[in-house]
Amino acid sequence: MKIIITGGAGFIGSHLVRRWVNNHPGDVIINLDALTYAGNLGNLEDLVSCENYFFVKGDITDKDLLRAVFDTHKPDAVIHLAAESHVDRSISGPDAFIRTNVLGTAALLDTAVSCWKGAMEGKLFYHVSTDEVFGSLGPQGKFTETSPYQPRSPYSASKAASDHLVHAYHHTYGLPAIVSHCSNNFGSHQFPEKLIPLVINNIRHRKPIPVYGKGENVRDWLWVEDHTRAIDLIFHEGRPGETYCIGANNEWKNIDLVLLICTLMDEKLGRKPGESAQRVQHVTDRPGHDARYAIDFSRLHSELGWSPSPDFRAQLSHTIDWYLANDVWLQMVTSGEYMHYYQRHYSNR
Ligand code: NAD
Ligand code: DAU
Repeated sequence: MKIIITGGAGFIGSHLVRRWVNNHPGDVIINLDALTYAGNLGNLEDLVSCENYFFVKGDITDKDLLRAVFDTHKPDAVIHLAAESHVDRSISGPDAFIRTNVLGTAALLDTAVSCWKGAMEGKLFYHVSTDEVFGSLGPQGKFTETSPYQPRSPYSASKAASDHLVHAYHHTYGLPAIVSHCSNNFGSHQFPEKLIPLVINNIRHRKPIPVYGKGENVRDWLWVEDHTRAIDLIFHEGRPGETYCIGANNEWKNIDLVLLICTLMDEKLGRKPGESAQRVQHVTDRPGHDARYAIDFSRLHSELGWSPSPDFRAQLSHTIDWYLANDVWLQMVTSGEYMHYYQRHYSNR
């Protein structure tokens, strides 16, 4: 198959592209990414010489470019991850979220339907969504595939809008489409604006560790490799027209998770026990901060046999080790140096 993966230079996208190129050598992957601040080709340096991997720099809101990519590569499927993904940025500047997540998804759907017209059989539009579209849970209960949509941030509202468009294109135009909703991911190559890499980076540099409010908000943390394994499985064995929830059964209050990272890093860095925890600072809460997310993934488990892998502490420890061993990567993405590189690199192309 020829598959366009959008957002393949980002955190989850780069793990998915690597998995696909290595595990499905008979498939051709076209990574379509605009290389925003969150996209980094350094995440995929090891794939540059792979014959079944192509990179196209492009914006999913650009319909002419999308048409050209479809005409050139004639894809059988799209796995759509490109998005503005950070809730805090959506609060300070929602426009980019509406542009990419809503208008970009609409442009991609429109291009797929017009290019695949009369030949939808065997095609697939796989949309990677989030559990945040379902809103905020109280202390009990979990999100399922039938939970009502109740997005509460500009980010989750824009993702909800994109989900609705995918379902609408399935029902109206017969586009074979699947949507999956995943909980919070962690792992290597995550931009250090998100909680786990931000905390690791700040501990490393003995900076204050910001915890929003009391730190009692709960997230269900899934290792990114488990997410890409689920996408691979759903892509191959899921039913078009269906949605799937992906989660980890691994709920943590933010403050408890932050203190665990402090403990693990004090050990790894040979610091006095408790040294890093002293730098935790409770800061002003995120406006409209969702209290709790948790996912019931029993459909994915019973229908397709998927389960998250065990041993969160080992995965977290492995993740910390990656950031400690890749200080140059962290410095590049935090200094903005890599953005200058891309501007230089692409300005004469
Ligand atoms: P990310 O921010 O790390 O990466 C997003 C990628 O999309 C970047 O490479 C960026 O350059 C690219 N991009 C942004 N705007 C674009 C545009 N207009 N055209 C083309 N490319 C563009 O995001 P992530 O954390 O890897 O998330 C990937 C997807 O998974 C998103 O759709 C997100 O909503 C969803 N998701 C993320 C999580 C999580 O915990 N990170 C959980 C569930 C679902
Ligand atoms: O649930 C899936 C979602 O998870 C994805 O759809 C989003 O793309 C992804 O960014 C993530 O959203 P969150 O808002 O849950 O992730 P974030 O890492 O920004 O924050 C996790 C929790 O930690 C949240 O309760 C806010 C809190 N937090 C975050 C930061 C950055 C802090 O307390 N301090 C911080 O500095």
